[in-house]
Amino acid sequence: MLSDKDRIFTNLYGYEDWGVDAAMKRGDWDGTREIMAKGQDWIIGQVKDSGLRGRGGAGFPTGLKWSFMPKESPDGRPSYLVINADESEPGTCKDREIIRHDPHKLIEGALLAGYAMRARAAYIYIRGEFVREAERLEAAIAQAYDKGFIGKNACGSGYDFDVYVHRGAGAYICGEETALIESLEGKKGQPRLKPPFPANVGVWGCPTTVNNVESIAVTPTILRRGADWFSSLGRPNNTGTKLFCISGHVNRPCTVEEEMSIPLKELIERHAGGVRGGWDNLLAVIPGGSSVPLIPKSICDDVLMDFDSLKEVQSGLGTAAVIVMDKSTDIVRAIARISYFYKHESCGQCTPCREGTGWMWRVMERLAAGRAEKHEIDMLLDVTKQVEGHTICALGDAAAWPIQGLIRHFRDEIERRIDARAAGSQAVAAE
Ligand SMILES: Cc1cc2nc3c(=O)[nH]c(=O)nc-3n(C[C@H](O)[C@H](O)[C@H](O)COP(=O)(O)O)c2cc1C
Ligand code: SF4
Repeated sequence: MLSDKDRIFTNLYGYEDWGVDAAMKRGDWDGTREIMAKGQDWIIGQVKDSGLRGRGGAGFPTGLKWSFMPKESPDGRPSYLVINADESEPGTCKDREIIRHDPHKLIEGALLAGYAMRARAAYIYIRGEFVREAERLEAAIAQAYDKGFIGKNACGSGYDFDVYVHRGAGAYICGEETALIESLEGKKGQPRLKPPFPANVGVWGCPTTVNNVESIAVTPTILRRGADWFSSLGRPNNTGTKLFCISGHVNRPCTVEEEMSIPLKELIERHAGGVRGGWDNLLAVIPGGSSVPLIPKSICDDVLMDFDSLKEVQSGLGTAAVIVMDKSTDIVRAIARISYFYKHESCGQCTPCREGTGWMWRVMERLAAGRAEKHEIDMLLDVTKQVEGHTICALGDAAAWPIQGLIRHFRDEIERRIDARAAGSQAVAAE
């Protein structure tokens, strides 16, 4: 279990005050100027060495991403840091806890990350529904300006850095980084074709890095305690601490900071009070937010909660939102509901996603009711493969993967329903 001395988010549950004075007592804004004095290359080097991988879902190495930003502007364009506080993945509720109770970790992280990438300002794009969180963030930013931590000559470093909050209107797709950038520019939130990548052409045509709230909020502690400390937690390539959001059929749903690579079973039993009705009552878990394939109990028994372990079992860590389903779950209907979500959230730009998500959802609804032929299961699987990897953004994959996971592990259950319904109709016909 992660020891208290290794906890980054020491006010995750809001037992203490969120304000700047209390945050400073917890160690935030301590020696920030000295960290900046070590220089941009040192900061990026430390973040690289820490092994931090992006906490927004894809797990891209954070330090490497920062190193893609230009060291000098060849044409006078400024650079920007954009922080993704859209938190739209179903089951995920970690970034909002950081913003509610530990906002200064995010603001200090914004300054240090922004400075490392020579960014002029940070834009925190927050989902529209987070009304109180946006207010809290604005208040914390105002405190940081008052203290001289950000703004002109931030922390006395000689560097000018502004932080702005931008509220979205509540669309899943606006969490995708290029759709987010479009939305930030005041346009309809639709993903852009890449290349060019945001590090070359991002917001307002300027070099931009988009990072998740958690990725940014952990960096001040990494820089204070050192890359070696962070990389000593977890496993190689899967380092550090991580916020896990555990929901569904557990006795005590919670968001908790734990060491990366903790066994899934231990995570659920130790922090969420176990599966409702006991571990043997577990049916399946979606380990990383609604877009990753589910894993059945047999895999949950020993899988580790990290990028590589979950990839090995054909799932993913995603946002580390652990959705637990016990044996009372109608697993086919649960995945059909997720399919409806993706159909609803598709922005409609590319044909495989626009048409495919609706098609897959309609078939899923029939499968949930057993109103289908068995050969349609393979046809559905084939369609998921035609959507996966053939779209502008990863929403197409996100729509395909849950269905692939269902068919991989619960084909018997789908077939049982088709048989049961067929037997029922024959019985009716024979009457
Ligand atoms: C459909 C879709 C929705 C996404 N939603 C979010 C989100 O709500 N928050 C987030 O941080 N990343 C989200 N992402 C990932 C972002 O595109 C991007 O990879 C991430 O913000 C990068 O931050 P990181 O490198 O710190 O992980 C989403 C991606 C897709 C395809
Ligand atoms: S994959 Fe879907 S959500 Fe993404 S750009 Fe294409 S249509 Fe839009």
